[in-house]
Amino acid sequence: MNSDNLGVCFFSGEQIPLEMHKARMVQRIHLRPVRQRFDAMKEAGSNTFLLHNEDVFLDMLTDSGVNAMSDAQYASMMMADDSYAGSRTYFRLQKALEDFFGTKHFLPAHQGRACENILANTFIKPGKVTIMNYHFTTTKSHITRLGGTVEEVVGDVGSEVTSDCMFKGNLDMNKVRDAVSRAGTENVAFIRVEAGTNLIGGQPVSLANMREVSAYCKEQGIMSVLDASLLADNLYFIKVREEECQERPLDDIVLEIGSLFDIIYFSGRKLGCARGGGICTNNETYLSQMREFIPLFEGFLTYGGMSVREMEAIAVGLKETLDLDVISQTPLFVKALSDELQRKGVPVVTPSGGLGCHIDAMRFVDHIPQEEYPAGALAAAIYLASGIRGMERGTLSEQRNPDGSEHLSEMELVRLAIPKRVYTLSQVKYVADRIGWLYENRHLIGGLEFVEEPKVLRFFLGKLQPTSDWQEKLVAKFEQDMPNGL
Ligand code: F0G
Repeated sequence: MNSDNLGVCFFSGEQIPLEMHKARMVQRIHLRPVRQRFDAMKEAGSNTFLLHNEDVFLDMLTDSGVNAMSDAQYASMMMADDSYAGSRTYFRLQKALEDFFGTKHFLPAHQGRACENILANTFIKPGKVTIMNYHFTTTKSHITRLGGTVEEVVGDVGSEVTSDCMFKGNLDMNKVRDAVSRAGTENVAFIRVEAGTNLIGGQPVSLANMREVSAYCKEQGIMSVLDASLLADNLYFIKVREEECQERPLDDIVLEIGSLFDIIYFSGRKLGCARGGGICTNNETYLSQMREFIPLFEGFLTYGGMSVREMEAIAVGLKETLDLDVISQTPLFVKALSDELQRKGVPVVTPSGGLGCHIDAMRFVDHIPQEEYPAGALAAAIYLASGIRGMERGTLSEQRNPDGSEHLSEMELVRLAIPKRVYTLSQVKYVADRIGWLYENRHLIGGLEFVEEPKVLRFFLGKLQPTSDWQEKLVAKFEQDMPNGL
């Protein structure tokens, strides 16, 4: 296996990423003193989703819809053809997707979960089983909402926080066969591959594994679905970590990936670095089954709820996804942050993946029981200590069991997303510095409890409170160590 970095090496031997772009437009951000952060956190019910951006210094909540776009993407927006039906923009995006994945048909939708809604409405009925390496929050909610169930078949290594496995997102084919025989082939709605795999730390799936899944689906007559939302990072890992791909052009690799699945969908807030989404296929039967839902839920078939400007930007963004210097940026920055945190003793998911750096809250705050949401508490504490907004990816992001009991997550992670080409290395160093401080003061962090708990996707809008006065104590300690409160 190769080192992850095929890029520029520093003569000094220092292992840091080099930005392969320059800033030509900037946005002012503010670092509020810790007392103001404390007030903002209280107001937000200790939920980082509910913070106002003007109180956030580095927004590392997500990479969704917040990646830096290129000059070519902005330029393309000026060419957008604003018409309700038959827009030239639609045909340009359809052609860009055909060039990218080799798929003829494209159903536009306003974002990734809208595609999941269409897929679920078309293929899920009560009793249907959907098999996938790992669930994503919105995917699972759409499936279970319609009476379907989700079976996860990621290899055991996928849920191990630390490992040296290069493709932790891979499906375990024995588990796939087992799940199919338990459900009965006719009850399997589809097998879904999420590449990269979000909730286990942005971990990649290998091309070899995609081939195995595809061959098995064909043999069994089961529909195969690729969630390509995080494909840019995954593609980088396939290119640098998979021996046979190192000499292979990126466009050739993506075309092969496209040929392996019956249906591919994506969030254009991630893949293509703009805002939108869509479903691609060469299968006309599936196409005609799904198509009728587009005008019903999304918009006419040639825009699907997206702005035509965003569609133009996605078309250009897809072409830029075939440039290794572009897609290497997030994985290399994630690695730089993860490495620096590890040097400070902070437990993180290894190997580092795409999307963001994932901190292991189970070990960071091992004194907080899972019922008190250790990852949620840590995300709140990180904001207090730094003004950085991360996202809980643990028990709080799960939905309760049908009997109302907590569904304890296998992993308790705080994700610090690295939106593409947005933050600089000194900002990343600041992140590591403040989290290093927090780690030394981790005994001060306590748990959270719900004050308002929504029934569906509770992590988005739920409000919580600390189980004691731990936030006050943490703030006081910060003021003692950092006298200007910054
Ligand atoms: N699939 C994956 C793998 C995702 O990461 C996301 C979104 C979706 C589907 C849904 O797409 O947001 O456009 O509706 N992930 C975001 C995140 C929300 O922050 O990780 P969407």
